[in-house]
Amino acid sequence: MSVSKLSLTRSIAMLSTISSSLLILNKPLTRALRFPIPNLPLATNPRGLSSLSTAAISNNAGGGRTGALSPAPVTEDLQKIDVNPPKGTRDFPPEDMRLRSWLFFNFREVSRLFGFEEVDFPVLESEALFVRKAGEEIRDQLYCFEDRGNRRVALRPELTPSLARLVIQKGKSLSLPLKWFAVGQCWRYERMTRGRRREHYQWNMDIIGVPEVTAEAELISAIVTFFKRLGITASDVGFKVSSRKVLQEVLRRYSIPEALFGKVCIIIDKIEKLPLAEIKKELESVGVLEEAIEQLLQVLSIKSLTELEEILGDSGEAVADLKQLFSLVDKFGYSEWIQFDASIVRGLAYYTGIVFEGFDRGGKLRAICGGGRYDRLLSTFGGDDIPACGFGFGDAVIIELLKEKGLLPELGLQVENIVCALDPGLQGAAATVATILREKGQSVDLVLESKPLKWVFKRASRINANRLILVGDSEWQKGMVGVKILSTGEQQEIKLDELD
Ligand code: HAM
Repeated sequence: MSVSKLSLTRSIAMLSTISSSLLILNKPLTRALRFPIPNLPLATNPRGLSSLSTAAISNNAGGGRTGALSPAPVTEDLQKIDVNPPKGTRDFPPEDMRLRSWLFFNFREVSRLFGFEEVDFPVLESEALFVRKAGEEIRDQLYCFEDRGNRRVALRPELTPSLARLVIQKGKSLSLPLKWFAVGQCWRYERMTRGRRREHYQWNMDIIGVPEVTAEAELISAIVTFFKRLGITASDVGFKVSSRKVLQEVLRRYSIPEALFGKVCIIIDKIEKLPLAEIKKELESVGVLEEAIEQLLQVLSIKSLTELEEILGDSGEAVADLKQLFSLVDKFGYSEWIQFDASIVRGLAYYTGIVFEGFDRGGKLRAICGGGRYDRLLSTFGGDDIPACGFGFGDAVIIELLKEKGLLPELGLQVENIVCALDPGLQGAAATVATILREKGQSVDLVLESKPLKWVFKRASRINANRLILVGDSEWQKGMVGVKILSTGEQQEIKLDELD
């Protein structure tokens, strides 16, 4: 039966008979999760696991095609393409986009709660920005190429060098401290495992201009706040914290030049991935003596601050910083989330002080997030050094964790109203109704073709509409429309100027 053949009265009468099925389709919301992003409120239908949530655990770890475009063109104009995105990258169909927007909304909300300002940088940067000499893995994973103007460029593998570049560029016009956050896509040609892919989004929060460990304590507090918002507890996740100054103090004892520091850290960061003999060999090859290596390895196994103090003494900066941090953490109220672990070094050369990583206590996933202090990065780019620290938090591992814990939100499309003309000649009138509602801030799905009423009901259910608004001829003549509240079945005729 076509809507166009029905009068409004008849249609509304029909609605009553169909309303029981609609009531089933419009179940009450189970969890009141809402965030103010267009088209993103919570709906009733549990979302099926989608590629954002499932790809990382599939064998192919993120899907994607494995090769270049498949079969050769049949003719010069016709080319059959592989419809999968390149290996290690993702499409975001609506259900995945809802999840991503929900996650980013929470990143932004937490940043706002801590008084941070949002920034962004180009995804494409000069390659030189990411080339450091310490032998970092991130360097070998760079997506880099020459552009048409023969410039060496790279897709950013992280956001920190761009942030440093912008701080140098803005120079004295900036009033410190800066509290900046960013959410951006990063590219690393990475071996793909669960939660690691070739593109990922990172949430970064950085504080520029504060030399005290109050800054690190504040940043970790922000991450804890984020976890709590998502329902993750201290029994799910913890932070391992150390300071690069621990290694520095050991190296100083053996008169190992400061210039080697970054390289030594990068080698030590591989300690869980490579056999110990290999680590020792690499350390020797950069000039660290056997005796120093033994002491380094001994210190790295320390898991308590008291023990660290026994070995390093209490006069150094490493112990003092860590003690101050743990005391602040206590005051912030998140002590149960954080533990000292000297083996945390981090794989980026620029860190100079406190370093930390978020890990899942189940031990199944790779680092959830990581950061630290990088007081000397700016001078490596020719700027004046400004004390700085920050963290990066990826979008992939957290989704895995939420899935494991059954904490993925149920997000569905929700449009508040569906507006339908009962006759093709009333399509313009329906457009007027849609405009009136939209101008009042109500979302409207306007039925754009002449469709059977059954189809309209199905659509209303799919988009989780609250109201069905039918525009019929005789009512329109009186300046009225038919309105049905889909959850209750209640229906009435309402004057256009009373519609809100
Ligand atoms: P990062 O440890 O290399 O640090 O990365 C930070 C986070 O990004 C990781 O803990 C992880 O959540 C995510 N991540 C990194 N690589 C991948 C990947 N291939 N696939 C999925 N997720 C990934 C940095 O990038 C530093 N720039 C963070 C920072 C900001 N330090 C100071 N400020």
